[in-house]
Amino acid sequence: MTDHADDRTGQPSGLDSEETKIDPPPGFVETANLSERAVFDEFVTEWPTCWSTAADRLDWETPYETILDQSDAPRYRWFPEGTLNAAYNCVDRHLETRKNQLALTWIGKRDEREVYTYLDLYREVNAAAAALRAQGVSEDDVVTLYLPMIPQLPIMMLACARIGAPHNVVFAGLSAEALATRMSAADSSLLVTCDGYYRRETAFNQKSKADNAQLRLPYELESVIVVDRLGTELTVHLGEREHDYDKLISAHRGETVTPVARQSTDRLFVMYTSGTTGEPKGVEHSTGGYLSHVTWTTESVLDVKPEDTYWCAADIGWITGHSYGVYGPLALGTTSVLYEGTPDYPDRSRVWELIEQYAVNVFYTAPTAIRSFMKWGEAYPAQHDLSSLRLLGTVGEAITPRAWEWYYEHVGGGECPVVDTWWQTETGAILLATLPGVSAMKPGASGPPLPGIELSVIDEFGEPVAPYEPGYLTITKPWPGMLQGLREGNDRYHREYWQETDTGWAYKTGDGALVDEDGYVTILGRVDDVINVQAQRLTTTELESTIVEVDGVTEAAVVGDDSGLIIAFVTMKSTAIDELTARNRIREQLVSTIGSVAEPERIIFTPELPKTRSGKIMRRLLEDIACGNEFGDISALRNPEVVGEIDSTVRNK
Ligand code: WTA
Repeated sequence: MTDHADDRTGQPSGLDSEETKIDPPPGFVETANLSERAVFDEFVTEWPTCWSTAADRLDWETPYETILDQSDAPRYRWFPEGTLNAAYNCVDRHLETRKNQLALTWIGKRDEREVYTYLDLYREVNAAAAALRAQGVSEDDVVTLYLPMIPQLPIMMLACARIGAPHNVVFAGLSAEALATRMSAADSSLLVTCDGYYRRETAFNQKSKADNAQLRLPYELESVIVVDRLGTELTVHLGEREHDYDKLISAHRGETVTPVARQSTDRLFVMYTSGTTGEPKGVEHSTGGYLSHVTWTTESVLDVKPEDTYWCAADIGWITGHSYGVYGPLALGTTSVLYEGTPDYPDRSRVWELIEQYAVNVFYTAPTAIRSFMKWGEAYPAQHDLSSLRLLGTVGEAITPRAWEWYYEHVGGGECPVVDTWWQTETGAILLATLPGVSAMKPGASGPPLPGIELSVIDEFGEPVAPYEPGYLTITKPWPGMLQGLREGNDRYHREYWQETDTGWAYKTGDGALVDEDGYVTILGRVDDVINVQAQRLTTTELESTIVEVDGVTEAAVVGDDSGLIIAFVTMKSTAIDELTARNRIREQLVSTIGSVAEPERIIFTPELPKTRSGKIMRRLLEDIACGNEFGDISALRNPEVVGEIDSTVRNK
């Protein structure tokens, strides 16, 4: 195999010489949900009819007739005549066979635990749906959920789904400003939030952020529902249109709400994500296509079975938590673990202790977490019985072969396939991954496209590149989980994502990639100004424009390092405040404007930023410096002398 030196990020993206291919462990294949290689051929010869395999995992109120309507491409419509309800599929339909099986196991602070059987969940979701209706929420009204990892979040999502009101979940760590932007862009006037939440032993005030967001909105909210998470006297703080969640739900306990039959293409939810312009994009997902694809991949890629205990460690505030923490596992009728805490509290054994305690079968996390586990050492997982594990998943950014192998050996004991799953908020569900019961794994490559998915890696002229050549990753056939549109309208949807080629429409992922001769894809990172920070997407524009708001800052450039952390390079006016004060102000500004996710790992002051002769900041070069990579010829820069200085500042810290 050739050396996959990534010329975008400078990171080695493959293995050195001999390519490692690891066959699925035989013990795994025997019980795998999907172990027939023929599935690939079927999806080729019978495309798009093959996708009925996914749709038929759901209960439809009205059966669909057409699989895919391409008449208005690239606005594709999957299963268009079908009607269904997502909450019915995730809750009601399991009552007959497993009403007393756990649907959710929630683990909060030390020793806090709540469990919900499918019957409990049914009752809670019905009461919550009735409460939303009583607050005036009708079909297609957008409900914003600004909640941490507590059971009320999935309950409210399902309650919204039940009455056909799209939810708009805003990650709890995002700022008041971010919440206000996402609410007004979604035209949402009902908010569900909480008084606060815990990180380690510290209680954070969520309500004050929600209050601040309301002040920024150009309209008044109709209703705010507040969960009492901290156990304080909530009522004291509540205003006129604010309601205590518990009281409100209790008033509707025992009521049932008939699930609203939604058209397959009707919106199930909207989720804002970073776009290239810095303005968040409201990605809208359909009901039928999305749920079909998510359910099918939870079963065939993550190999989840109804009797499993499954733990998706991603926060529900991001797409991974939506698709694989809530909708996928519940549609299959399995037990999903929700964990509110952090992996190193009260100590670094926490994750392994929980896997042992709850006998978790399938664990899905991100490379950023795996890197921390590696740093803490293998002694921690070694102290625990992890033999319940059957499959390990990873998502959010590229995983290095070293981290992959560590996860495989020290967590999976060499017996669990590691599936490196590539997908995006917009794709809704996994598109690239090895099918764990079928294909060999290649550490460092996120696998070939799943059955039914077709891709092309192209150059800037739209021409396909040769194997091992880096290029732009595009998806050349539609897939059921694909975004149904953008809140911002059709024009932006077209502009952001679609390119017309000789063979039809190609979806632009925004990622660089290369494909090897077996069709395995190595992801080389973003090609636009989006950076993946701890497996979350942020744009350099939004970070940099926030930093330059700090008094005394003249210019800023932000990059992600190879641990997925933010490194900010900043220039100051010479007469400005001292570095320590500036550093604190920059941190505060980022956290208050964007949220704690935007907190930089390091802020490096420099007299100048490296620029091209045309004045463009050389972010690639800064990224190389931040990652400790070799950097190439810099003589074409306007100010090459500054590079050595920045490099030594970075190394000396
Ligand atoms: C990156 C998360 C390499 C990629 C589900 C993509 C990955 C962005 C992988 C989407 C992977 C996700 N290997 N890179 N397995 N998975 N990415 O929308 O750059 O938060 O475009 O969705 O994460 O991030 P998003």
